[in-house]
Amino acid sequence: MSSQLHPVALPLPARTADHDVLRLFTDRWSGRALSGAAVAPEELARLFEAARWAPSGGNGQPWRFVHARRGSPAFARILESLMPQNRVWAERAGALVAVVSAVHLPDGRPRPAHAFDAGAAWMSLALQGASMGLVVHAMGGFDRAAAAAAIELPEGWDLHVIVAVGRPGDVRDLPPALQAREAPSARKPVAEIAFADRFPA
Ligand SMILES: Cc1cc2nc3c(=O)[nH]c(=O)nc-3n(C[C@H](O)[C@H](O)[C@H](O)COP(=O)(O)O)c2cc1C
Repeated sequence: MSSQLHPVALPLPARTADHDVLRLFTDRWSGRALSGAAVAPEELARLFEAARWAPSGGNGQPWRFVHARRGSPAFARILESLMPQNRVWAERAGALVAVVSAVHLPDGRPRPAHAFDAGAAWMSLALQGASMGLVVHAMGGFDRAAAAAAIELPEGWDLHVIVAVGRPGDVRDLPPALQAREAPSARKPVAEIAFADRFPA
């Protein structure tokens, strides 16, 4: 783990890849220790620029991002829609970003891969943020109706995650239970997720 990418107060175990990959993949992780400092519009623009180049079915680019900077009424509304266990740390984010995607094609037929495409865009955004030393942490723990109302989401759009974007803070500011979890997690080995020729019985 590169302390340069994610400077927190406690020493963190390094993540080691079993195969040679870009360090960015292992250095990105979902921290919760946030400083409460602002994230500049230009920094957010760089995250969305990265997301913009993600691949998508038919290059349909069904993703959209609704962002709200700390201190704005929209930030407060989105924050309120989070589950309390997320709100407790995400309130120190510099911005909250709702990731949504269009469920229909322009001709009205279902868009089968919209969630897959939005996932690719989210990951691009997250990797870009990690490369900039930002915490970029997705949350599925929110009240969907409240979050949709908070961003005035029309019909036809799926709200996937709210992403906390911010500057790394001091782990000791987190509640004790979250302090204990503030470390990069492990992964299943490649042999458990990739199979030659056929899916295993
Ligand atoms: C769709 C999705 C929903 C998630 N929901 C939450 C959440 O509600 N609260 C939270 O603290 N983390 C949440 N996470 C973060 C995951 O727990 C985290 O990505 C996972 O444990 C892997 O750890 P890493 O991102 O640090 O590598 C979510 C991540 C994703 C992709």
